[in-house]
Parts: sequence; structure tokens; C-alpha cells
Amino acid sequence: MHVITTVQEMLDMCASWTDVQSVGLVPTMGYLHKGHLSLVQQARTENEILLASIFVNPTQFGPREDLTRYPRDLPHDLSMLEECGVDAVFVPTASDMYPPDFATYVEPTGVLATGAEGASRPAHFRGVATVVLKLFQIIQPQHAYFGQKDAQQVAVITRMVADLNLPVTLRILPTIRETDGLAMSSRNAYLAPPARAIAPVLYRALLAGQQAFGRASTDGPAGVVRAMQKVVNNEPEARLDYAEVRDPYTFLPLETLQAPALLIIALSLGSTRLIDNFLLRVDGTWSTGCMQI
Ligand code: PAF
Repeated sequence: MHVITTVQEMLDMCASWTDVQSVGLVPTMGYLHKGHLSLVQQARTENEILLASIFVNPTQFGPREDLTRYPRDLPHDLSMLEECGVDAVFVPTASDMYPPDFATYVEPTGVLATGAEGASRPAHFRGVATVVLKLFQIIQPQHAYFGQKDAQQVAVITRMVADLNLPVTLRILPTIRETDGLAMSSRNAYLAPPARAIAPVLYRALLAGQQAFGRASTDGPAGVVRAMQKVVNNEPEARLDYAEVRDPYTFLPLETLQAPALLIIALSLGSTRLIDNFLLRVDGTWSTGCMQI
């Protein structure tokens, strides 16, 4: 497995793949877990060449967020990726991705960027869209893999690919969960045992929302939201940021209970902020994630 640490080296390597049928990219910020591995395993089956990137992207962190303490373990990440048969890993430095004179950002607009996560993290999706476009430009993958866990990120990137006519197919794979329902996330590493014990409250709240969604007596999205809030309110340590029902593509709040729909939730346990979602697809089936892989 090649480990590429500069943009130029990555560009040169990609330019050398003249006869390659398909290149797959799994972009990550490292500290890999089974959620990432499910993306890598799927991508391995679908591409001749498979790349992963590991880059803790500074532009998607707000000034009071966890950029400096974001968990990192490059040697462990590299050995996991090698075991999964990844061909090359791109591990650029921040100064190479964002030189001092860097001045061009991708700016998602409207509710997609300002609603839900965007309200709590104002420049977050600008940073995500910018770095993902840079990775797409450098690597030019045919397929790029993201987890449903970050539903708004998926919506922002899907919009960007359509709006900017990017020649890449996005593959969105289900959330992978711990056996108690907690969605796998690198940030789960922040949770001390008492907070970790409470954290599956997100999953329980989503299950309650999903049940309310299916009940004829539920009075629209407000009833689903109340069902989710009730579960969180029973956990005094959990501070709810939002529990909402939105359109998974536009991120506009839904006015009636109809597919497609996304139940989204965010809350803090101490200084750790966690997010999760359930997706009701157009065909009426739910994507709620998988317990382990
Ligand atoms: O989901 C992530 O890990 C990041 O937001 C991404 C897509 C790698 C961009 O930095």
C-alpha cells in the first residue's frame, strides 16, 4: 500500500493510471472504526484501484470546536486500510492542502448549509464541501463513498456533485452501530464510561420517532419530534440540540409525514456532541443502520 503525503505526488500517481477502469475514494478524517471499514470493504469490491484519504480538515472545524483534540492514530489506520486491500492512502498536510495564499472556497447555501447542523456549526459545510471538491479534483475518482450517519454532509455533497456537474458517483452506505445502537463515530472516543452508557439515547429517540411516524394517530412531524424529545428528556445528562423531521435531499423541514423523510437528532453529553439519523426512503423502507459488521 502506497502512502502519499503530498498533493503533487498524488496528482502524479493519478495521472499514471491511464488504463484504469475505475478508481474509488473513501475520504476520512482518520481514527477509523467499523463504519469506515464498511465503506472501504464495499469500495474494494467495486473498483480496480482503491484510495482512502486521511485528513483532519481544519476548515470544517469552528473556532471553539475540537480540531486540536480530534482523535488521531495514523499507524493503526494505515494497518487497517492495508488489511482491507487499499491500494494507496492520501495523507496530506494542512499547509499543502491550504497554502497561505489559499482563497477559494465552495459555499453551500440555503437551508442545506444553515439548517440543523449548519445552525450549530456555521462554517462546517463550507469546509466539508471545499475539501471534498479538492479531493475529487486531485484524485478524480469514479466512485466516492460516504456514510449515511452524516446525513446532512451527504445532502451537501450530493447537491455539490449535481450543481457543479462533477463526474463522480456517490455511494452512500448505512450507518454501522454498536450492539446497543450507538452509531459508530470517531468522536465516541471522547465519551467517558458514564456518558458512553447514556449515549444510545440517540438511537432510542430515533426508534421512538420511527414508531410515532408509523402511527395513524401521530399529528404530523410535530408528533414525531415530541416522541424523540420525550426520550431525550428522560436523560437529565443529555442536552438536546435538535430533533427534527426533514427532507433528506433539500433539508427543508417536512410539513407532512411522507417519504422520503429523515429523522435527525443532535445532543451533547458533557462536551461531546453526537448526531444520528434514520432515513425513510422513497419506497417506504427505513434505513436505520446495521448493528456491527
Ligand atoms: O466525514 C468525514 O470524515 C469528513 O467530513 C470528510 C468527508 C472526510 C471531509 O473532511
